[in-house]
Amino acid sequence: MVFCARILYLILSKTRTDFGGDTVKRDFLHVTDFSGEELLQTFDLAREVKARLGAREAYKPFAGHTMAMIFAKPSARTRVSFETGFARLGGHAIYLGPDDIALGKREAVKDVARVICRYNDLIMARLFDHAHILELAEYASVPVVNGLTDYNHPCQIMADMFTIAEHRKGLDDLKIVYVGDGNNIVHSWLNLAQRLPFHFVCACPRGYEPDADVVRRAQEAGLSTIEIVHDPMAAMKDAQVVYTDVWASMGQKHEAAERAKRFQGFQVDDRMMAAAGKGAVFMHCLPAERGVETTDSVMESAASIVFVQAENRMHVQNAILLMVTGKV
Ligand code: CP
Ligand code: NVA
Repeated sequence: MVFCARILYLILSKTRTDFGGDTVKRDFLHVTDFSGEELLQTFDLAREVKARLGAREAYKPFAGHTMAMIFAKPSARTRVSFETGFARLGGHAIYLGPDDIALGKREAVKDVARVICRYNDLIMARLFDHAHILELAEYASVPVVNGLTDYNHPCQIMADMFTIAEHRKGLDDLKIVYVGDGNNIVHSWLNLAQRLPFHFVCACPRGYEPDADVVRRAQEAGLSTIEIVHDPMAAMKDAQVVYTDVWASMGQKHEAAERAKRFQGFQVDDRMMAAAGKGAVFMHCLPAERGVETTDSVMESAASIVFVQAENRMHVQNAILLMVTGKV
């Protein structure tokens, strides 16, 4: 993974666009864009919004608002949860698929940014190149929310941690073991570990570790315990959450056959779940490739909370949208 020097430079040098006097716009491009306190506030808000929507309350903070959703990659959860969530809060979301905008191909990212923000109150984007979302946010005068890049997936990890807190009634003494590729999901877990304390273990094959700079920053923050290991069965000891993701992410599907060989022994199956702590839950960001990184049996087991996890994408994203627009 050759992200880091360039991306770190862009993250650190990213300018914020001032608009309307003292107001500095907020984006949510990385979990670390929020302080630890703001992350916990987001979870509280998500809990409240979930309850209000569950009670079918007429709660419409986004009435009269529009959000452009730019997708360079496919999606089920991200598209539907953002679109439905925003509509249920009174707003109107516009889906722009890979052939509509062709970001960076048909038109420069900085031009798209300055056009789209003139029609919309918010932009949500799922892109390949992380540098593109940084550029979009730099040039757009409205909040930009990251719906996944090759580098990270912050909304997913926020929904995941919210789901864990909901399930365990808190986040104390938490050991999460991720098994599989050291990918965009892992980078967001490591970013979260800079802000909230937990024990995070990434068990991956050699050569598929997460980016070393992202690991170093998580370790240097000194808040969480971070381990990158290569023996998933040994890592299971006392795990309360076992998490996996596809072995070949979007944009890497041509590597699937090679990865299937390299990831032998990393499938989360019943034997692996049995080695985890008592009451451990199974999580997956989905979509899952059943029979590859995990099994039907684990997906359908009582330990699996993958569908609550998927539902919570909507509630947590609603809270994130309220946070970045200052409607709290
Ligand atoms: N987990 C997730 O982001 O799913 P989609 O790719 O379907 O949006
Ligand atoms: N790592 C996966 C996550 C999908 C939600 C991918 O990027 O394809």
